[in-house]
Amino acid sequence: MKTPDYIAELKPYTPGKPIEELEREYGISGSIKLASNENPIGPSPKALEGIMAALKDLHRYPDGSNYYLGKRLAEKLKVSVDQIVLGNGSNEIIELIVRAFLREGDEVIMPEPSFLMYEIMVQAGGGKSVKVALKERVLDLEGMAESVSSKTRIIFVNNPNNPTGTIVSRADFEVFLERVPPDVIVVVDEAYIEFVQDRTCPIGLDYLDGDKTVATLRTFSKAYGLAGLRIGYGVMKEGLANLLNRVRQPFNTNLLAQVGALAALDDDAFLNKTVSDVHKGLSFLYQEVERLGFRYFPTQTNFFLIDLEQDAKIVFEKMLRMGVIVRPMTAYGYPNYIRISVGLPEENQRLVEVLGKVR
Ligand SMILES: Cc1ncc(COP(=O)(O)O)c(C=O)c1O
Repeated sequence: MKTPDYIAELKPYTPGKPIEELEREYGISGSIKLASNENPIGPSPKALEGIMAALKDLHRYPDGSNYYLGKRLAEKLKVSVDQIVLGNGSNEIIELIVRAFLREGDEVIMPEPSFLMYEIMVQAGGGKSVKVALKERVLDLEGMAESVSSKTRIIFVNNPNNPTGTIVSRADFEVFLERVPPDVIVVVDEAYIEFVQDRTCPIGLDYLDGDKTVATLRTFSKAYGLAGLRIGYGVMKEGLANLLNRVRQPFNTNLLAQVGALAALDDDAFLNKTVSDVHKGLSFLYQEVERLGFRYFPTQTNFFLIDLEQDAKIVFEKMLRMGVIVRPMTAYGYPNYIRISVGLPEENQRLVEVLGKVR
């Protein structure tokens, strides 16, 4: 068996601990998970309806072109259907871009800390991650532009950034974009864009037709409540989309994901409730976390960081025993921080109680 060192040395991504696994390991029940930035309300009811109706067709392959979802997305986003690539989560679009454009020794610029899959996928492709440290928890776009070399193929701009929940401003993004060569792909990962309230936030789609190469990624996993279905998409120039559509598997989005996402896309009531509940939950949590005396960092997303001023891994373990799953930020370079996702009101309440006990 022969594999390149960069594959043998890959460290697998550690996802948020599933509830079922926790309860099996600790012999407890009634646990809650606030660790993976999911939608606590559940899936969109319209998506469920669509999925139930499609179950009888499971013996057939899905539509490889994902015609109806692509068409509806194109209408909603006011882009051409040829500018859209659908994937098995937006994760797959990241992977497709890396696979199509990165060769051994090529460089990819990314913020640090940020979504860990960027680095994993670059390493899996034999490329080199050029990590640019955040400044005050915000992407250092100037530093990222300065890091561009003749080997740079891709730049990841996670906006808002996971795990800090911060955004870059439109003005800073435009100065940055001006400095990036047109043949470098700027991937604007907008997994949490639906939650953003700050009006200075740039929208990747606004730069689709400019002279730079901007690919915007979105997902149905967060605000749309469909993380388990695995569906997301990228919007980019037609030539780029065409390449990715040639690289992808023919049936990369499954039948239930296609119909679920299509229905969820028009479930405005669900989306609005989700966003409004998250903002209410955030106000409550900020107030309570402050009352407990912890420092926290305001967010533009459905998750935020809390500074525990002690080893987050130890606190994480203690919280697990009390049936509350959060995310220790050790792997992200913040050994004293946890990241929590906003839950249902009763889950938020429970989190606060448990946090009070580990103080
Ligand atoms: C910043 C960011 N991008 C992309 C993803 C991937 O989402 P999915 O593959 O579920 O669409 C996530 C998921 O946590 C994320 O936080």
